Amino acid sequence: RVPTVGIDIGGTKVMAGVVDADGTILEKLRTETPDKSKSPKVVEDTITELVLDLSDRHDVHAVGIGAAGWVDADRSRILFAPHLSWRDEPLREALQARLAVPVLIDNDANAAAWGEWRFGAGRGEDHLVMITLGTGIGGAILEDGKVKRGKYGVAGEFGHMQVVPGGHRCPCGNRGCWEQYSSGNALVREARELAAADSPVAHTINARVGGQIGDITGPLITELAREGDAMCVELLQDIGQWLGVGIANLAAALDPSCFVVGGGVSAADELLIGPATDAYKRHLTGRGYRPEARIVRAQLGPEAGMVGAADLARLVARRFRRAN
Ligand code: BGC
Ligand code: NA
Ligand code: ZN
Repeated sequence: RVPTVGIDIGGTKVMAGVVDADGTILEKLRTETPDKSKSPKVVEDTITELVLDLSDRHDVHAVGIGAAGWVDADRSRILFAPHLSWRDEPLREALQARLAVPVLIDNDANAAAWGEWRFGAGRGEDHLVMITLGTGIGGAILEDGKVKRGKYGVAGEFGHMQVVPGGHRCPCGNRGCWEQYSSGNALVREARELAAADSPVAHTINARVGGQIGDITGPLITELAREGDAMCVELLQDIGQWLGVGIANLAAALDPSCFVVGGGVSAADELLIGPATDAYKRHLTGRGYRPEARIVRAQLGPEAGMVGAADLARLVARRFRRAN
């Protein structure tokens, strides 16, 4: 029942924590994700520093990484990452050599789904779909306690399904991807656009950042929406509506019992989930004649990926001890 370290590497933030066997976080550290222009080595340095720091105070037996990228079927390489510099990167080997403990890597949303299924909103669900709204949209399918990975490891990349032909350009190379309309990045892009246009509805947010449009962030938009700022409420409604449309499409394809919505933007809670549920009900195929999956907010919030990665690492550590 030894604690393990879980690390969630998103497009903006890296969260690292020591987590015990029942999902309790014993200590947590946070830092910024190195800029996309930096080499993969810089991301490895960041991870290594965090683990060494935590190792000063905890006995670390294994490290689990939930990474915002496309992890191969062997869970050893990152094939591609729209928001990071990884291109066919042998991440597990590189980290294992530096950390000298068993390392597990998985996609960040897969790790979040696992965390929610073990300790959060997904407990007892045998057909769960996870959606994380952060820099991009992450997705995972968890059936009967197993993450569905597809043939090549990269199932669940819902964020890159096209929802608007010819729409916004996405760093995956396409246009009109879902995550361009329903993510933290989408929220911030829209708010900055309104602020830059000096729209009258942007008065409050503009005043709040003193005209420094680059200082507009997702958490600030959520904070202002909670205070009742009309523009911020509307922006979350827009994101929520796109979320609901996407969820209706996923229900058509996957028919789960439950959608768990996590990631940083889910902190907006009902301001996001409310409009999403409305849109979902309006767009669900065969509505009125089919069971409707629930939409719930991640119980572990933005920590789901970190906690899930730590728990997955525990399984690997056990296997490793048995084999040696
Ligand atoms: C990536 C996914 C990742 C998600 C959330 C997407 O852009 O393609 O691999 O899970 O962002 O970080
Ligand atoms: Na995934
Ligand atoms: Zn895309």
